[in-house]
Amino acid sequence: MRIKFLGHSCVQVDINGTVLLIDPFISGNELAKDIDVADIRADYILLTHGHQDHILDAEVIAKQSDAVIIANYEVASYFGAKGCKMHPLNHGGTYTSDSFSAKYVNAVHTSSFPDGTYAGQPGGFVVQAQNEVFYHAGDTALTYDMKLIPKEFDLDVAFLPIGGNFTMDYKDALLASSFIKCKKIIGIHYDTFGYIKIDQQKARALFDGDNRELILLKIGEEVEI
Ligand code: NI
Ligand code: MN
Repeated sequence: MRIKFLGHSCVQVDINGTVLLIDPFISGNELAKDIDVADIRADYILLTHGHQDHILDAEVIAKQSDAVIIANYEVASYFGAKGCKMHPLNHGGTYTSDSFSAKYVNAVHTSSFPDGTYAGQPGGFVVQAQNEVFYHAGDTALTYDMKLIPKEFDLDVAFLPIGGNFTMDYKDALLASSFIKCKKIIGIHYDTFGYIKIDQQKARALFDGDNRELILLKIGEEVEI
């Protein structure tokens, strides 16, 4: 799978030509100003919860790509009412297509829309394709629920929040990587704004010291996994 980091928690994952976009927050991210939302196409848009820094560009990209939005019932219905294609899930449920499946798993966080209305409960996704499996944790604290993931999935890579304050920090993310039994972690949800600034060298060194890899991609950078 080919992974492109689009800033904050937004990643684009190309699985044999099927393009998944997760948590698009680009036009509101000063650090991602070189990325033009108008250029982005996806087949599916996965949204972990209703917070603005995860859904901001979902409607525009969904409409310009004819993409299907996959999210919890409340978030999917919100975009369905705006005329987007959508598939609603709830925790424990799996969306299955010809090319991949996406299971909606627990996250410990909150979820509301930018206007304050209820956006269901937050989650993450475990995406399984023929030869690759990844976990995108969304916004979450460290939680024992993560230990359930390796009972069902053998992860190749995981996107974990590492910025602290609103989510777990990189120290908890290191523990999370042992809970999920995954040695290759791509950090998300850090450095976008003041509350979540981290020392990247310290974070990488901590993972190195535990024989794990913390990959911190530049915005727009691509990696093949
Ligand atoms: Ni959030
Ligand atoms: Mn967030």
